Amino acid sequence: MTNLVKNGIVKSSLYMIRFEQTTKKYGTNTLALEDVSLDIKQGEFVFIVGPSGAGKSTLLKILTRELTPTSGKITVADIDLTKLNDKDIPSLRRKVGVVFQDFKLLDDKTVFENVALALEVLDKNDEEINKMVEHILKLVEIWDKKNLFPKQLSGGEAQRTAIARAVVGKPDVLLADEPTGDLDPKTAWSVLQLLNEINSWGTTILMATHNQEIVNTLKKRVLVIKKGKIVKDSKEGKYE
Ligand SMILES: Nc1ncnc2c1ncn2[C@@H]1O[C@H](COP(=O)(O)OP(=O)(O)OP(=O)(O)O)[C@@H](O)[C@H]1O
Ligand SMILES: [Mg+2]
Repeated sequence: MTNLVKNGIVKSSLYMIRFEQTTKKYGTNTLALEDVSLDIKQGEFVFIVGPSGAGKSTLLKILTRELTPTSGKITVADIDLTKLNDKDIPSLRRKVGVVFQDFKLLDDKTVFENVALALEVLDKNDEEINKMVEHILKLVEIWDKKNLFPKQLSGGEAQRTAIARAVVGKPDVLLADEPTGDLDPKTAWSVLQLLNEINSWGTTILMATHNQEIVNTLKKRVLVIKKGKIVKDSKEGKYE
């Protein structure tokens, strides 16, 4: 986050993610997001919940630039997405990490290689890359599996690898789209513990989930989205 100097006073930006009156239509008929305005501050951990088809993944995909909105303005980590050129997308990748329900690891690369690949955009030398990958793989407790391929991992191990890949470059923001969707309850909790730890370093986390127990236990900020609109935003929210 940059510091803004105004009248000699240093002011830190107040938000890490901001949606201003954002609308996303698919084709002419599907209104996936309607006039969404939203601020998320640096260091927050926020859940997005809501029925299937409500617009949760659409909102996350707009933040990664997989989708562009039909109208509105979005800012993430001081990057104005509405002004971002395709050639600037690597700078967005450095600031925003993503994890998915189905991991999206490369099957022909080892655990180590999958994570190391994420650092290629960062302009680091091999020695630095090896050090960073070792550090993060130890942290997510998967170092002993570093030479295995994704198909040889359990679901929890695959998700920990995917999280390591998403955060190895120390992004400001981590987006997670149903990261526990394919995991058993115990493994889901271990993933949440890991996300909580990443959040404690100062990483802002925005996570879409259908996991009622996790949302109700952790008492974080909860955004409820229905038919493309945020219908509730509560500080220590519940999944209702
Ligand atoms: N590529 C697409 N083309 C057309 N319509 C789409 C596309 N992706 C999503 N939609 C529609 O947009 C709406 C929002 O979808 P989205 O995937 O954001 O929902 P979601 O809240 O993530 O749902 P789920 O909980 O099932 O993952 C839905 O009506 C969906 O059918
Ligand atoms: Mg979704």
